[in-house]
Amino acid sequence: MSDDTDSKTRILTVIERIEEPGDILRVKLAAPDGAALPAFTAGAHIDIRLSAGDTGLWRQYSLCSDPAQAQGQAGHYEIGVLRDPNSRGGSVAFHRLAAPGGSFTVEGPRNHFELAEDARRTVLFGGGIGITPMLAMAWRLHALNRDFTLHYCTRSERATAFRDTIATAPWGHRVVFHHDDLPQAQRLDPARDLPEPDAGTHLYVCGPQGFMDWVIGAAKTAGHAPANIHREYFSAQVDSTGEGFEVTASRSGVTVSVGPEDTIAKALARAGISIPVKCEEGVCGTCVTDVLDGTPDHRDQFLTDEERAEGSMICVCCSRARSKSLVLDI
Ligand code: FES
Repeated sequence: MSDDTDSKTRILTVIERIEEPGDILRVKLAAPDGAALPAFTAGAHIDIRLSAGDTGLWRQYSLCSDPAQAQGQAGHYEIGVLRDPNSRGGSVAFHRLAAPGGSFTVEGPRNHFELAEDARRTVLFGGGIGITPMLAMAWRLHALNRDFTLHYCTRSERATAFRDTIATAPWGHRVVFHHDDLPQAQRLDPARDLPEPDAGTHLYVCGPQGFMDWVIGAAKTAGHAPANIHREYFSAQVDSTGEGFEVTASRSGVTVSVGPEDTIAKALARAGISIPVKCEEGVCGTCVTDVLDGTPDHRDQFLTDEERAEGSMICVCCSRARSKSLVLDI
């Protein structure tokens, strides 16, 4: 797990707004004075604040542009945001606020979905809006002259965003489109579309939770090593309820009770111990905290299987305890 690049907060201006099919808004962001932006690596995201105040609503959006485009004059970042009226309000707010000339407070870029650039073969799986980090990866893999395939799954051709980008990209011939309304033979078939497991073959999966669970499950069954299956969840259905337990913040010596409907982050905040929280559903990694004692009950999608098994870290926005108490390194 890494948390590279630049976490400084900055104001970025919307320089272009493009409505894509499938209710996806593509937005280019640049520094107000046109200065170069911090470099980012393929798979990185930025955090965008969508409401004011200390506890403002923050959302994470993958950078989908060519990483080489951040730098130099006229450098910019590009993101794609699906308008989802059933979400907690972030995407709807973004679609409303992202007008040309408008600005957002932005943190990052950060990368929790890094590309193994020396892989012998790379296969990318993007479902719906999960195509966004895959586009940046495709640009980078092309620049490195690497062997790769991008499987892009959407509901229909009409609802497929970024078609123009892909059609004109020098790596466009490496993209295989799969639409739900096509005959079965043209939809994604993991048995057919997954490559042979190999130490030098890396898989990347991003999209809705059901799509990701399906592809990742098939990849594991096919024998791909967990360390070679890279994934990034945009959102997740998280059940953060359960039996009550106690949490001790070791550095301050404060112990709090976490009730059945409570979260560790909220219980600690009431006691004056604030841990930064952004997504609140275990996907962004902002709240990861070291565990000194006790057994976490992981509810997040952020930590890897190995990190969960180790039990030395916990996402305090949603995860709980299997033991009666936890001691955290805060
Ligand atoms: S706040 Fe995003 S994982 Fe906890």
